[in-house]
Amino acid sequence: MTAIGPANIRVREAVQTLVPYEPGKPVDEVRRELGLDTIVKLASNEGPFGPFPAALNAIKAGIGELNRYPDGGIYRLRNALATRHGVEQDNVAVGAGADAIISYLLLALLEPGDEVVCGWPSFPSYVIDARKLSATAVLVPLRDGFYDLPALLGAITDRTRVVFICNPNNPTGTMVDRQAVDAYFSDVPSHVLTVLDEAYWEYVDDQGYPDGIAEYARDGHATLVLRTFSKIFGLAGLRVGYGVGPSDVVAAVRKVQNAFDVTQPAQDAALASLGDVAELERRRELNRVGRDQLNGGLLQLGLKPIEPAVANFVYVDLGMDGRSIADQMLRKGVIIRPMAAFGAESAVRISVGTAEDNDVCLGALGEVLTSGGTS
Ligand SMILES: Cc1ncc(COP(=O)(O)O)c(C=O)c1O
Repeated sequence: MTAIGPANIRVREAVQTLVPYEPGKPVDEVRRELGLDTIVKLASNEGPFGPFPAALNAIKAGIGELNRYPDGGIYRLRNALATRHGVEQDNVAVGAGADAIISYLLLALLEPGDEVVCGWPSFPSYVIDARKLSATAVLVPLRDGFYDLPALLGAITDRTRVVFICNPNNPTGTMVDRQAVDAYFSDVPSHVLTVLDEAYWEYVDDQGYPDGIAEYARDGHATLVLRTFSKIFGLAGLRVGYGVGPSDVVAAVRKVQNAFDVTQPAQDAALASLGDVAELERRRELNRVGRDQLNGGLLQLGLKPIEPAVANFVYVDLGMDGRSIADQMLRKGVIIRPMAAFGAESAVRISVGTAEDNDVCLGALGEVLTSGGTS
């Protein structure tokens, strides 16, 4: 084996300070290493169920065509999404995950030294993607786990190009309601684009939760609303998400988009998923029950999860090193996400799994905490 050493090529300064994404080991590898029969993975806010049946059929039907590049215009899916949301096709950008849309948007909008504003802790891509472009991410602390929209407004300067509102917020699982978002939009200056990140939209059944597309984007506000097929639709592994907003913003995103970045199976599966309203409803309800189960179990363990959580995960401060607890949970076959990377050393985030997954997780956490949380 040859180790290829460094070539000492100059890397952009903004990139030098970034830390590469640290993926966990593949689940099978962990299972083998620890000699466990099963692993319960509740670390990435994925849905616990696979793709919708119609999506699986669509994927299977297209396998023989994988020698072809995908439809670069993503025509059928964009068209279907436009119809569904009552907008024109030019108002819809589809990318390899909502994550890709965030990265394309910032690439299109930010000059070095520009600013983005977001709550913190929140979805790290807002910060990382801005820093990649030598822009500054202004982090506004959450208030009791909730996005603080007046404080976001207060952080806007002449250099602010984008404000991110993560609704519900990853990792705390909380939402801001219609009244708060209305008030925000009535005060936000016109040079700012607001991204309403609604990656978990389908899970939320609170009447006060606004539909960013119907209530703000379609009304002509300067907002790009993000949604994804990674969560309730069970397609995280295929990478497909989208943004709906003003035609010039969507055009800018599409100009910097990598050609053919959304694979044909991803396009076909997403399109097929849109029709199955009953399965969506079933999963939403199971998630609600599972989230109550996790919250109830955490309370019984004497912990205080942030409530109300409205998406498919819960966030809890354990009052001790979250990384160490997550590590001990792993050895019991349960993967949860420590929040140190979000600046919360003593917190963890747990995704809602099946009833059985949640039970196993709560059991393991109980054991770890009873043993004093020390390894
Ligand atoms: C708030 C938020 N936005 C965007 C994404 C990205 O989703 P996707 O899988 O579509 O890239 C995630 C994924 O976890 C998320 O939590």
